[in-house]
Amino acid sequence: MRMVDLIQKKKQGIKLTRDEIGFIIAGYTSGEVPDYQMAALLMAIYFRGMDKEEIANLTLAYVNSGDKLDLTAIKGIKVDKHSTGGVGDKVSLIIIPLVASVGVPVAKMSGRGLGHTGGTIDKLEAIAGFNTALPKDKFISHVNTYKMAIAGQSANLTPADKKIYALRDVTATVDSVPLIASSVMSKKIASGADAIVLDVKVGSGAFMKSIAQAKELATTMVEIGKSLNRKTIAVITDMSQPLGNEIGNANEVKEAIEVLTGKGAKDLTAVALTIAAHMTVVGGAYPDFELAYSNLEQLVRSGKAIEKFKQFVVIQGGNPEFIYKPDRLPQAKNHIEVKSLKNGFVAAINAEAIGVAAMLLGAGRKKKDDLIDYSAGLTMVHKIGDKVNAGDTICILHTNLDEHEEAEAIVKSAYKYSDSEPLPIHYIYDVIQ
Ligand code: URA
Repeated sequence: MRMVDLIQKKKQGIKLTRDEIGFIIAGYTSGEVPDYQMAALLMAIYFRGMDKEEIANLTLAYVNSGDKLDLTAIKGIKVDKHSTGGVGDKVSLIIIPLVASVGVPVAKMSGRGLGHTGGTIDKLEAIAGFNTALPKDKFISHVNTYKMAIAGQSANLTPADKKIYALRDVTATVDSVPLIASSVMSKKIASGADAIVLDVKVGSGAFMKSIAQAKELATTMVEIGKSLNRKTIAVITDMSQPLGNEIGNANEVKEAIEVLTGKGAKDLTAVALTIAAHMTVVGGAYPDFELAYSNLEQLVRSGKAIEKFKQFVVIQGGNPEFIYKPDRLPQAKNHIEVKSLKNGFVAAINAEAIGVAAMLLGAGRKKKDDLIDYSAGLTMVHKIGDKVNAGDTICILHTNLDEHEEAEAIVKSAYKYSDSEPLPIHYIYDVIQ
């Protein structure tokens, strides 16, 4: 087999066989297939697409490129969750204690952030002492005892996806349904999930900019799950503006606590409880979504949810005192208020631009080895639908950097205004199962 022939085939829109996909992925992982040929193939896939069988074969080739986590020692249905990525997305921090508190095991493997989207592992590492490098036996024993544990993705889980994702990032081939679907599903399958709940983001801060594209991605992933015997549910949620009011690592931990104590922003609370409720239903704790949702709300009201979060922090080696004293989380030295330029209603917020501003303030990485500042980030004082006057503070930047003009300018131009009140935003658009 020659790579050039396979590029030619896909360029002409001809289906690749299982063996051909296996050859490409094994060759690229080992270094035999060079970046320039893989880049050409990715662009051909971007324009020509892949059918269901090709996507399932690509997913399996990713899974087979590295180690698979054997979680059979964990009792119960292991339900995992994955978000396609967004700004201010701290849902994982909230669902881990919520789902675990009803006895459904959450064995969470998570990644770090890159570019404008943050990673769960970075957020949790804003907590003093929090250890995300648990050895496998401890990870398993924590899930069996406490029903929850988190670890950073092992270096050798789906290495093909890791290498191809980095190439997609620099060849403008990230926002492709077959490539995202196989990337997401391979990670969940390699990390031992029995059932998967997907949070498919749509809007200005997401890879999928329209609901039709998000539905196509959601349906594709649910079908991959079905063909590989993993019960999969995809919830399509809004990312037309950042989720919740806080962006940045320590900030997002603080906001997760607000949701777990019943004081969270409405959009974040609705998305987190919806994802958690679906997880508890597929995990067998409740017969239906409505009952699950109302029982989870009750766990928040009763204080059990925040107690479980405290236990989560402690078993991972963290110091839980920040839960009741949030000022113990890392704090930035500069707080810059960004003012509204107009009178009117906030009509749109470019979420991706807000994510880029957070990165420039120190909260994220441009390159994978960059250090991040846990205290850096933004507080969204006003969001879509809010009425503002010129000169009102719309957003606060938090940073230890003395140069923040670029981030400030980005935030200013990320906000768009209108004279009339915009239509209310839906938090959840659809559920595909
Ligand atoms: N998240 C992933 O894990 N992979 C993608 O390709 C896009 C989002």
